Amino acid sequence: MVTFQDVKNNKELKTYIENADASLKALGFTEHSYAHVNKVAKDAYDLLIGLGYPERTAELARIAGYMHDIGNVINRIDHAQSGAVMAFRLLDKMGMGADEISIVIAAIGNHDESTAVPVNPVAAALILADKSDVRRSRVRNAANGNRKGVLDSFDIYDRVNYAVEWSTVKLDIDHKAVELQMQLHPEISAVMDYFEIFLSRMVLCKRAAEFLGLRFQLKINDYNLL
Ligand SMILES: [Fe+2]
Ligand SMILES: [Fe+2]
Repeated sequence: MVTFQDVKNNKELKTYIENADASLKALGFTEHSYAHVNKVAKDAYDLLIGLGYPERTAELARIAGYMHDIGNVINRIDHAQSGAVMAFRLLDKMGMGADEISIVIAAIGNHDESTAVPVNPVAAALILADKSDVRRSRVRNAANGNRKGVLDSFDIYDRVNYAVEWSTVKLDIDHKAVELQMQLHPEISAVMDYFEIFLSRMVLCKRAAEFLGLRFQLKINDYNLL
């Protein structure tokens, strides 16, 4: 059985993760490297464990989370689909069975909001974990320079990510809900800015939550917005 640790130890995969992130850096995108993929892997795993799915299903979500953005090494456009094909090759070579590969590549191929559908529980967990990773530390060079100078060079994605002081995705099993909570700094990015770029992601999160039998809730600065 191919474990999450086997996947993490795979040198080729590491190379693809690093080069995918390097390409996104060149394009001016936020951080998509180990901090992002490890967080997504953990959150997707925790979500399915919390919902009572079998350990192996949750582990497949962890594997999908770790691998989900490698397609960016080819091109940002259609990176979900290209990444799924790359993951197929890697996992097949590692000896994973076709039944499990099918679940992982369906999830990876369905994580980008332009084409995503929560087609299985692993895909739904990956969508929720990926779309909720919004945080200041994903903005490149955010820690350097004075804040004013840094802010002037930001696009709207940087601005919204930079404004998020913290965010967390919480499963509320008693109320059958999953809640994305975040603290948004009002000076840097208005809540409206957040919605302008994240509306399609939130709609997708709602669908993913519903697939898992949950309501999706969004709480920004202690206000329940959804
Ligand atoms: Fe992605
Ligand atoms: Fe991602």
